[in-house]
Amino acid sequence: MTAQLNPRGDVAVLVPAAGAGVRLGGGGPKALRHLGGEPMLVHAVRRVAAAPSVSAIVVAAPPSEVDAVRSLLAPLAPVIVVAGGAERQESVAAALAAVPEGPDIILVHDAARALAPPSLVESVAAAVRAGSAAVIPVLPVVDTVKEVGADEVVLGTVDRSALRAVQTPQGFRRSVLAAAHASAADSLTDDAGLVEKQGYR
Ligand code: C5P
Repeated sequence: MTAQLNPRGDVAVLVPAAGAGVRLGGGGPKALRHLGGEPMLVHAVRRVAAAPSVSAIVVAAPPSEVDAVRSLLAPLAPVIVVAGGAERQESVAAALAAVPEGPDIILVHDAARALAPPSLVESVAAAVRAGSAAVIPVLPVVDTVKEVGADEVVLGTVDRSALRAVQTPQGFRRSVLAAAHASAADSLTDDAGLVEKQGYR
């Protein structure tokens, strides 16, 4: 059954899903690879659509798969699907350009992080609503981390107590994310990196 998004919700979620899946190995775009019998993108969108604050979802699909992704997601929720770009940042920018008027909070959530629960969408959105310009969910780094030289010889052991592994969804005030993308000079692996460069906390 198609979920109804909340028309009074103040959150739009961008889902970059246009990656080729090169690091994962052969078999097509990562977001369309199956996990428990369904594409990862389906898992991700279903959970996002179940978050009560979400009024819009925009997916950036591999350019050759836009129609297929539209058909795949139509039974789940009313989702806007656009063609992604060659880099993740371009895919996010394309999705951002397609967000309807209204939502003041934008979350960016990798399709590959398919099992992030609706409660995480809500808690990131709530932190932006409470006044933060940008919010990221993180995990403590539990592995021992080594710094190595060019020859792979260990230079030292990094103090992991101050390290965090960055997850998604990342949340932003809409104006902050739009300005960060408009002035982006180089390609970064996450949106919070762009916003950090603008000097936001
Ligand atoms: O490759 P990486 O782990 O950075 O991909 C993170 C997310 O960004 C994935 O969901 C992937 O589909 C998406 N992506 C994208 N467009 C690209 C590259 C990655 O939408 N050109």
